[in-house]
Amino acid sequence: MVAMNATTPLSNLNSAELFNHKVEARTAKIGIIGMGYVGLPLALLFSEQKFRVTGFDIDPFKVETLTRGGSYIVRIPETEIQDAIANGFQATSDFSGIADMDAVIICVPTPLNDHHEPDLSYIVATANNIAPHVRAGQLIILESTTYPGTTEDLLVPILEKNPRGLKAARNGAASDSEFYVVFSPEREDPGNDTVARRDIPKVIGGLNPIATGLGGAVYNSIFNRTVPVSAPAVAEMTKLLENIYRCVNIALVNELKMLCLRMGIDIFEVIHAAATKPFGFQPFYPGPGIGGHCIPLDPFYLSWKAKEYDFHTRFIELAGEINLSMPYYVVNSTAAALNRQKKTLNGASVLVLGVAYKKDIDDLRESPALTVIELLQREGADVKYNDPYFAFVGKGRKYDLQMHNTPLQDLGKYDCVMIITDHSDYDYEAIVRESQLVIDTRNATRGIQSEKIVRC
Ligand SMILES: NC(=O)c1ccc[n+]([C@@H]2O[C@H](COP(=O)([O-])OP(=O)(O)OC[C@H]3O[C@@H](n4cnc5c(N)ncnc54)[C@H](O)[C@@H]3O)[C@@H](O)[C@H]2O)c1
Repeated sequence: MVAMNATTPLSNLNSAELFNHKVEARTAKIGIIGMGYVGLPLALLFSEQKFRVTGFDIDPFKVETLTRGGSYIVRIPETEIQDAIANGFQATSDFSGIADMDAVIICVPTPLNDHHEPDLSYIVATANNIAPHVRAGQLIILESTTYPGTTEDLLVPILEKNPRGLKAARNGAASDSEFYVVFSPEREDPGNDTVARRDIPKVIGGLNPIATGLGGAVYNSIFNRTVPVSAPAVAEMTKLLENIYRCVNIALVNELKMLCLRMGIDIFEVIHAAATKPFGFQPFYPGPGIGGHCIPLDPFYLSWKAKEYDFHTRFIELAGEINLSMPYYVVNSTAAALNRQKKTLNGASVLVLGVAYKKDIDDLRESPALTVIELLQREGADVKYNDPYFAFVGKGRKYDLQMHNTPLQDLGKYDCVMIITDHSDYDYEAIVRESQLVIDTRNATRGIQSEKIVRC
């Protein structure tokens, strides 16, 4: 790399140096593909740092909402979108604008299909949309969670089908006929206000060291720390390890919860006591199952890939089995609790509190509440739900409930009120006082003594 100073003419710089110069000068244009829970906050972070940011999305509702300065994510106020627009942010579904971007960051969904296999169709579609517009010196970053090998074996070959015949940089020297590719996993934890987004270190694995360096330059402008690793596959695997660790530990406490309930021991008290150990223990909490776009899905990206190597990821399978069984356990426990009151689940009127997959967020994806509702309905219960974050629950990837939010009143008329998501806004004392029977799957009623409460 040539040493740069204020007088170095820009035309003397190679593509990597020019890229770094633009990032430093904030003239680099950042394109983010996928304006969802990951992409939109990322766009706002870059915009706060005075980059010109363009958000690309195929969803016309999102593009229109952002264009008029609106927001569709509860925790992102409209004023933040409007401030970004004042800094040059725009949203579009026209992918020709990709050619103008210096860095393109892909944040599209990576779900599982009906057979529990990775569905990479969104990444493939995005790569096909980018390829015609790829240009030399551009940095393409994949952030979507996926199995090791996706960046190199799936994304790069599609991008290399670009009309200019440009190749992804693989060797050590900067070249003016190549583009750069990086995998850098998103690590956001929605609803977790204890760590600022800036303080979550960003892992970066480039196809070559220059790509890793360029990724570092981009992310260092919005994150306090970046962690370079030797290859995209290492970064891909890092993200999976983090989520598998979580999935396995949640399964462990879910299993121990079922044992503790049988033994008459409060698992939450146990976990809180264990968490006082200053080393070697990290608390995870049981619940009615797992939800969100990450923990229920990501581990299976690895177990699918592992089969290619004749390898069975037994921890993942076991954790998946336990976590998936939790909604069934909750419904069985509810039936048993009603039975003790000489009532049946069939015909019972049930109010489910909280349908979001975790507290205080507006995200329904893979929520165990949806499975619980379906199981209750299948058993003949008359189910209503209340959730301040959802006025309506329609059709999703795996459910079609078509239910409207029910006001939180007249709780005494339900045979049973089930706390599935422990939103902070609920007054649990009042809920217990007014209800006939409360099924608490989250320890939301801790400290409240009442025979009406069944913890499960
Ligand atoms: N949500 C999280 O908390 C979280 C955390 C860490 C990692 N991730 C990972 O980040 C990725 C994105 O997740 P998300 O939660 O933001 O998803 P999301 O569904 O909220 O957003 C994805 C966006 O991509 C858009 N999109 C789909 N196909 C597109 C295409 N071809 N071109 C342009 N836009 C397209 C969708 O319209 C949507 O707006 C996933 O791989 C996920 O596993 C998510």
